[in-house]
This record gives sequence, structure tokens and C-alpha cells, in this order.
Amino acid sequence: MLSLRTRLITITLITITMSWVMGIAFSATAGWLTAVSCLALLLIHQLWHASKFTALLLSPSYGEVPVAMGIWGEIYYRLHKLVKGWRDQVLEVEHQHQRFIQAIQASPNGVVMLNEDDQIEWCNAIAEKHFGLNARRDAMQRITHILRKPAFVQYIIRQNYREPVKLTGMGDFEQFSLEVQIFPYGDKQKLVLSQDISQIEKTDAMRRDFVANVSHELKTPLFTIQGYLLTLLDGAMEDKNIRTKYLERAEKGVERLIYIVKDLDMITKLEVGEINLDVTRFNIVEVIQNVFDLFEMKASNKNITLTFDSRYSKPIWVMADQEKIQQIVTNLVVNSIKYGKKGGTTEVSIEDLINNKVIVRITDNGEGIEKQNIPRLFERFYRVDKSGARSEGGSGLGLAIVKHIIEGHDEKIYVESQIGVGSEFSFTLEKTK
Ligand SMILES: Nc1ncnc2c1ncn2[C@@H]1O[C@H](COP(=O)(O)OP(=O)(O)OP(=O)(O)O)[C@@H](O)[C@H]1O
Ligand SMILES: [Mg+2]
Repeated sequence: MLSLRTRLITITLITITMSWVMGIAFSATAGWLTAVSCLALLLIHQLWHASKFTALLLSPSYGEVPVAMGIWGEIYYRLHKLVKGWRDQVLEVEHQHQRFIQAIQASPNGVVMLNEDDQIEWCNAIAEKHFGLNARRDAMQRITHILRKPAFVQYIIRQNYREPVKLTGMGDFEQFSLEVQIFPYGDKQKLVLSQDISQIEKTDAMRRDFVANVSHELKTPLFTIQGYLLTLLDGAMEDKNIRTKYLERAEKGVERLIYIVKDLDMITKLEVGEINLDVTRFNIVEVIQNVFDLFEMKASNKNITLTFDSRYSKPIWVMADQEKIQQIVTNLVVNSIKYGKKGGTTEVSIEDLINNKVIVRITDNGEGIEKQNIPRLFERFYRVDKSGARSEGGSGLGLAIVKHIIEGHDEKIYVESQIGVGSEFSFTLEKTK
């Protein structure tokens, strides 16, 4: 390719030569006319391309290179190459930016970017949920105008971001407990990161409740035992009758302690999934009959009848852990006696369900349970306050154990109850031939 200077010199030489030849061949005027015409043509050519070039700069098109002869062809080609290079760079940066945004969007944490005036520049979807923000609506709003929790406002003002701050009741429905921390970056910008700690808080509260409940449940029998022993040591030991009576009562307290510890042990093992199920084929009718035999005395003390709804003369075979199912039936039957009314009835039925299942129902006509208490029955230590529960004694672990065992079998448990009318607890089991 010829350089611009060479081209200019060549064009000038051609023009001079043509004008000189015309001047010699015809006249001096003809020579001048040729020179002026050549220069005019050249000028028009340059002006035309200059206007085309300006139009191109004003609205660049990346696909096509305008066709032109000589120097303008080269200019167009070089410009096109330059613009294409820039465009590729922009596309690459845009692509990287998109990937970066996608990565932040995928993060389980909320991310908000603030400028030096604490205005929201950008936030991800999780942050929108955590803080009840709307990325578009709230863009360039000062974060403290939207997030007005005093703890957060103080945190921003104090400018000590070494530790996170805990915020409760966050989100549109105040459903989140968050741990929020600010990380300054760049030129006085800030990154606000939020982590949902609702579940951790809940587990923590449950653990605290659990410890409080365990100590409460253990305290009662311990103090009873201590009371009787101290009275005996204080002299009651001398009286043979009182001695036996008090020792028997202290023994009852120990029995109660053992009962609670056993239940606690059981529920702990069930919760950490330590208990393996020993699934065998057994006759559920026989298991229920066993429980009836074991608790007949306890029931008759309250004049309660333990009965099947009909005669189950043939065995009903099920597949499950026999010992654990017997424990479930025991807990439910004992509850029906404890919370049953004097002279009442506990009736057990076994019915076929679709999908090779049977459903065992344990129904009583006792005190019943109020609707609002039903969802909480299977919680550890939950006892309905107004029921005979307090006078009857119990740790509120029975139904929690029942639920764990049933769920361990992948089966279902149901409760229906009406206050003053009675309760029905039912669970499913896998039927076999
Ligand atoms: N058949 C029932 N009728 C009425 N209330 C019941 C019945 N079964 C359970 N409840 C209520 O549910 C609560 C929880 O029962 P759960 O068996 O878990 O504990 P508990 O019987 O109090 O103690 P535990 O079984 O550990 O000795 C009871 O305290 C009682 O208030
Ligand atoms: Mg119970």
C-alpha cells in the first residue's frame, strides 16, 4: 500500500504533467483549465468521502466496510478494524460483568452495594428478600431511609464494621433474623452482606427450652426424694410406719426419675437417628392385646374399659419394629387412660387402607384437647396446661417419641380431638400376608 505522502505527491505530479501536456498541445488556458478541473474533481471526491465518514462516525455500523478507492478505502478499513476491536472488548467486559452478577445472585447471602453516600447502587435477589428491598425502585435511595431499624442505623453511623450486627423481624413479613456485616471497599463504597440465621436462632431457642424443661422435670422428683430423706434423717426414721411410708414415696420419686431419663435417652437416640429399626413380620392384634393386658389394672382403677371395636379372631400381619410399635401403642393407651374420664372407654380398631396399609385407631371419650393445642402435641415436653396432665404426672415426651418412631417407619400419625368429647390418635403400618 502506498503511503499518504506518496499518494499526494503522485496525484500532484499527474495533475501537473496532464496540465503541462495540455498547455503544450493546445494553449496555456487549456493547461490551466485542466489543472483547475483536476483539483476540483479531487476536492469533490474528498468532500464526498469526508461527509460519508462523518455520517459513519455519528452512527457507526459494525458489520459493513464502505467500499472506496485509494486512501479512503484504507481509512474505512482501519476504522472498521479499530471499532471492531473496541466492540469485542466491550462485549467481553459485558460478559464478565454478567457472569459476576450471576455469581452474586447465586450466593445464599444478601449483597447490597452502597456508594459513598450510602445510596443503594445494586443489590441481589436475596438482599431484596432479606431487607424487603426492590432493586429498581430503591436504586440510589439512601439505605438508612429504607432500612430504619435503629440497630442498623447505629451500626452504619458508628462506622465500626469489624463485627456483624443482628437484626430480627426483617423482610416483608418480618420472618427473617439476619446477621448483617458491612465491608468498606474501593473509594468509600460499602458492601453490605446479610445471612439468614432464623433457623439457627430457632434451634438455639429449642435447645434452651429443652434444657430448661429437662431441669424442671428432674427437679420435681428430686426435691420430693430429698424432702422425704431429710424428714427421715431428722428423726422420722424412728417410727417404723412412717419410715416405710416415706421410703416408699422416695422410691416412687426414683422411679419417676428413671422413667424420665429413659424417655430422654430414647428421644435423644431417635433424634440423632441412632436407633435402628428391627423390622419383622408380626401380628398387630396380639401386640395391642399385650398392652391391654399390661394396663388393665391401671385402667380399672379409673373404671376405664380397654376394648377392640370388634372381634379380631384372625391375625393381622404387619411389617415393622415390634418392640417400638408396642411402645407406641403403650404411650397412646396410657394417655387415653390418664386423660380419659372415669368409667370411660378406650377403643382400638384396625382397618385396611389402600396401598397395603392398615390404620390403627386408639379412641377415648376422655377430656379431649383444644384445637389450638393439637399442632403442638408432638413437641418434646409439651403438655396441655389445663388437662389432667399436671395431676397425672408425665414429662410430655410420650407423643414426641411416638411421632419419631412412626416417622422412622415412614408412616403417618393423625390426631382428632374435641374438648369434652374425646380424642382419636391413629397411625398407619405396612400390611403383609
Ligand atoms: N388421649 C388424650 N386425651 C387428652 N389429652 C391428651 C391425650 N393424649 C395426650 N394428651 C395431651 O397431650 C399432652 C402430651 O402427651 P404426651 O404423651 O406427650 O405427654 P404426657 O402424657 O404428659 O407425658 P409422658 O407421656 O411423657 O409421660 C398431655 O400432657 C396431654 O395434655
Ligand atoms: Mg403420655
